[in-house]
Amino acid sequence: MQLDRVSVAFGAAVALREACLQIEPGTRLGIVGESGCGKSMLGLCLMGMIPDAGKVSGSIRLNGKELAGAPEHVWRRHRARDVAMIFQEPMAALNPLKRIGDTVMEPLEVHEGLSRSAARARALALFDEVGIPDPDSRLRQYPHEISGGQRQRVLIALALACNPSLLVADEPTTALDANVALRIIDLLVRLSETRNMALVFISHDLAAVARATQQIAVMYGGDIVERGPTAQVLGAPRHPYTIGLLGARPGLDNRGRGPDGRRKRLVTIPGTVPPLFELPAGCRFSGRCTREIASCALQRPQPLALGAGQVAACHLLGQAHAGAGAS
Ligand SMILES: Nc1ncnc2c1ncn2[C@@H]1O[C@H](COP(=O)(O)OP(=O)(O)OP(=O)(O)O)[C@@H](O)[C@H]1O
Ligand code: SF4
Ligand SMILES: [Mg+2]
Repeated sequence: MQLDRVSVAFGAAVALREACLQIEPGTRLGIVGESGCGKSMLGLCLMGMIPDAGKVSGSIRLNGKELAGAPEHVWRRHRARDVAMIFQEPMAALNPLKRIGDTVMEPLEVHEGLSRSAARARALALFDEVGIPDPDSRLRQYPHEISGGQRQRVLIALALACNPSLLVADEPTTALDANVALRIIDLLVRLSETRNMALVFISHDLAAVARATQQIAVMYGGDIVERGPTAQVLGAPRHPYTIGLLGARPGLDNRGRGPDGRRKRLVTIPGTVPPLFELPAGCRFSGRCTREIASCALQRPQPLALGAGQVAACHLLGQAHAGAGAS
């Protein structure tokens, strides 16, 4: 799937600004950034699920076919065949009054025309694939009778039912205990590999994204400020926001402890994300950036290719490249 200059505006508030991304089949892309920076908006764009008040522009192509601006029935077909999404809170996505079996089997009967027994066999196979033990009894249970981790597995099974070529997982592990979260992340990676299914993994958790993805996009204020191979971007970040974000969390490998074993002081990015309509026209990180120069608030930095697939948009990087070219 290919996004080219995709924007989403709610009146004067631009929640996503000219996002460019390429999601290759079977690859895993992480989307990170602070709350409100547009991660979910980007995920919803891939699903054609932007709220009605949002105006979408730019190009969203799948296998060469333009989906941006397509009528709802085209998006519905896309959602039934190509893409699926899972969310943070599995309880909210399951009907508490319905047995799990009915929730999973009904769409198979309605959308795929399967008989009740074929739908049941399919549901059991999907449960097996996502590691739900004793799937027969699970089908008879209600959502509140199983654990949060098992509920998320049920939703993953539901999402897989249409054999999507892309799964968007929006904070799928935030509501889960650390150990359960790890197992869900590893399940998503395994499913992506065995099914050759692309995965867009949206998360606050940089360690989870480092574990699960090959590519990463870092967002701030509706902009993708840096992107590239995950190891490259997290190992050698170039955008001041990415550098701040990595500094703002305990080290990825040392669980936040320094060489002496003592807990490191948590560095945070100064200030908070302003409301969308108060963001500067130029670099949206200006006002919070410690390395800001005069042009930052007014001129928008353009994405710059830094080699090895890493791309970042910051005036300082432009200057460094211009300097390197002149010498
Ligand atoms: N229906 C809407 N109308 C107006 N603005 C909206 C609407 N939905 C979202 N926004 C705004 O769009 C911006 C991006 O929101 P989004 O939900 O994508 O953030 P996010 O990065 O997913 O945050 P979080 O980590 O908290 O989930 C936010 O500033 C939000 O207030
Ligand atoms: S463009 Fe300016 S404000 Fe934005 S990240 Fe770079 S130095 Fe900071
Ligand atoms: Mg979100």
